[in-house]
Formats: sequence, C-alpha cells, structure tokens
Amino acid sequence: MRERHPRSPSADAKSSILGDATACAVSRRDVLVVCGTAAAVAATPSLAAASPASAAARMRVDLRVNGRAATLELDTRTTLLDALRDHLALTGTKKGCDHGQCGACTVLVGGRRINACLSLALQHQGDDIRTIEGLGTAEALHPMQAAFIKHDGFQCGYCTPGQICSAVAVLDEIRLGVPSHVQADLLAAPRPDEIEMRERMSGNICRCGAYANIAAAMAEVAGEPT
Ligand code: FES
Ligand code: FES
Repeated sequence: MRERHPRSPSADAKSSILGDATACAVSRRDVLVVCGTAAAVAATPSLAAASPASAAARMRVDLRVNGRAATLELDTRTTLLDALRDHLALTGTKKGCDHGQCGACTVLVGGRRINACLSLALQHQGDDIRTIEGLGTAEALHPMQAAFIKHDGFQCGYCTPGQICSAVAVLDEIRLGVPSHVQADLLAAPRPDEIEMRERMSGNICRCGAYANIAAAMAEVAGEPT
C-alpha cells in the first residue's frame, strides 16, 4: 500500500476538490429510481393514464447560488445547467455540447469545478454554487477576470465564463496539492507552471484558440513568470 507523503493534501481536501459522490444528499441511485419509475409508468398506457408522470417527476430543489438562496420546483430530469440558465436567468454559464465534452458549462460547487450539464439540479440540494456572475462585479472584477482582459484570454467569449471558473478552481487544486496526469512525481506538490495549467484546463475547449493567452492570464494570477 502506498504511504501518504507528508506534503500531500489530506483525503478531505482532495475529496472537496475531486468530488465525493456519497456526499450528495440525493444519490445517483435515488435519481435512477425516480426517473426509472417515471419512465416505466409512461411506457405502460394504463398506468400512465392513472398516474400522470408529470406530477410524480417534479421536486422542490433548494440551492444557494452566488450567495443567495434559490428555491425551484423542477422536473427531476432538469440539469443544473438548465436550472441556472432557464429557471434563474443566469445565462453567463454557457451550453456548448451539453454532453460533458467542452467545459463551457463549468461552475463551482463548494469551490470545486463541475460540468453543470452533467449534473442534475436535484443532486445539489443545499449546495453552494458559484457561477461567473458571482465571481466578481463590473466594478470589482475577480483577479482572474481582470487577467483574462489584460492578456486577451478570449475572442468570441462563448467559452470564457467556463474557462474563468475552471481557471479559478485549477489554481485552488494546485494550491491544495491535488495531483495531475503530467506530474512526474505524484507525491510532490504540483507547481502552477504552464504544463500543469494546460493539462488541468484540457477539459475547457476554446474554438477561437485563445489557449496561450488563457495560460498567460492564469500564470499572472498564480504569480508565475509569463
Ligand atoms: S456544455 Fe457542458 S461540457 Fe459542454
Ligand atoms: S473565445 Fe471563442 S470559443 Fe473561446
């Protein structure tokens, strides 16, 4: 069994960044049971007539979004991305692929980054969610937002909210010592150098190809030479 290095992050710190499915108030199993039951009812004409699936498949969801409480009555199949965009009008978070492949929908949940299109809203009961709208204001930009502007870290801007949320979380991951695939020594503390940041940002696609400038913006916030 591998010994834990004294400088490696605690299991709790890694869990808070990498995620722990068991921490969800509503488990994946619960979701499958609810959705599976609704699908079975819908597929059986006599049952569907007796028990409207629409009534059975809605649930109250309590979130905390950008510091404010938000209570929604949602179809249980609603993704967190659609809840944010369509029900809370927080359209800064973008829908690119809707399949977990582009990173445009990246938001922070409890400080860790997730693809909001891959997560059901009801899995986030009571969660603290931060979107691009909650990172900074026009008068007081988050340092990462200011650095993206300074280094021209965007062109069309469609991927940018997800890039910025991801970049903020990446620097936290590095600070906490969460390892990546490009580390030669997984037990050594990672550094916020260019190869680390490019690897950790590889899930955020930019069709405009602003990668070099995004890396420069991140390096500035991390205090690294560019
Ligand atoms: S929209 Fe979520 S990863 Fe592309
Ligand atoms: S700035 Fe256009 S997709 Fe990234």
